[in-house]
Amino acid sequence: MLNMEVEMSKELFSPVIETERLTLRPLEADDAVSLLAIFSDPEVMKYWNTAPWAGVQDAYNFISASNDSMLRQESLVLGIYARSTGELAGKCMLFSYDKGSKRAEIGFGLSRSCWGKGYIGEAGEALIQYGFKSLGLRRIEAEIDPNNYSSARALEKLGFSQEGLLRQRWEIDGVVSDSALYGRLASDRLPLHI
Ligand SMILES: CC(C)(COP(=O)(O)OP(=O)(O)OC[C@H]1O[C@@H](n2cnc3c(N)ncnc32)[C@H](O)[C@@H]1OP(=O)(O)O)[C@@H](O)C(=O)NCCC(=O)NCCS
Repeated sequence: MLNMEVEMSKELFSPVIETERLTLRPLEADDAVSLLAIFSDPEVMKYWNTAPWAGVQDAYNFISASNDSMLRQESLVLGIYARSTGELAGKCMLFSYDKGSKRAEIGFGLSRSCWGKGYIGEAGEALIQYGFKSLGLRRIEAEIDPNNYSSARALEKLGFSQEGLLRQRWEIDGVVSDSALYGRLASDRLPLHI
């Protein structure tokens, strides 16, 4: 019985989630080159809290750290793949998971060629529902640079509300920036059209 529970909870942190156009699943070492192509793009990384990736080792390190953190049941980091081609479009994650408080933080990034197709509306909502229904989260939060208009729009369309602004929270390569904090509760009633 105990073994079965352990097996089930392992799967909980290693899901494959299908949406209409996308598959979300854990990244594999074979994804390293595609992942590097996405996250070495300065436009994709413009509002990230790290520099653009510089080489394929960065991608291998990310994949291995992600899979380790999922094994420890600390986060979910999933590649986003187009179902029609199998191509890697980006990644999305639930991290800073606090089991006791039933909350986690959400993050996502897509290759530039995949922006504006509503992929995050689809992948993000699937991940959020997984967080609420399968992981039992009560609250999901997000922290973004307030100048990241696309990300703010994507969050608003996902039903997040802005809850705060932390001034001068980051300094990356000498550039100081604020953080906007967003939240969505499992109990939030969402407007039909945002
Ligand atoms: C933020 C991001 C994940 C949004 O995902 P998406 O699937 O493109 O989201 P949507 O298609 O719903 O578009 C959201 C907004 O992005 C903007 N947008 C759309 N296409 C765009 C493009 N080609 N270039 C720039 N911005 C664009 C629009 O403002 C859009 O809002 P609208 O639908 O009201 O017009 C994606 O733009 C991205 O990966 N950006 C780089 C990484 C990043 O900043 N991640 C967030 C850090 S937490």
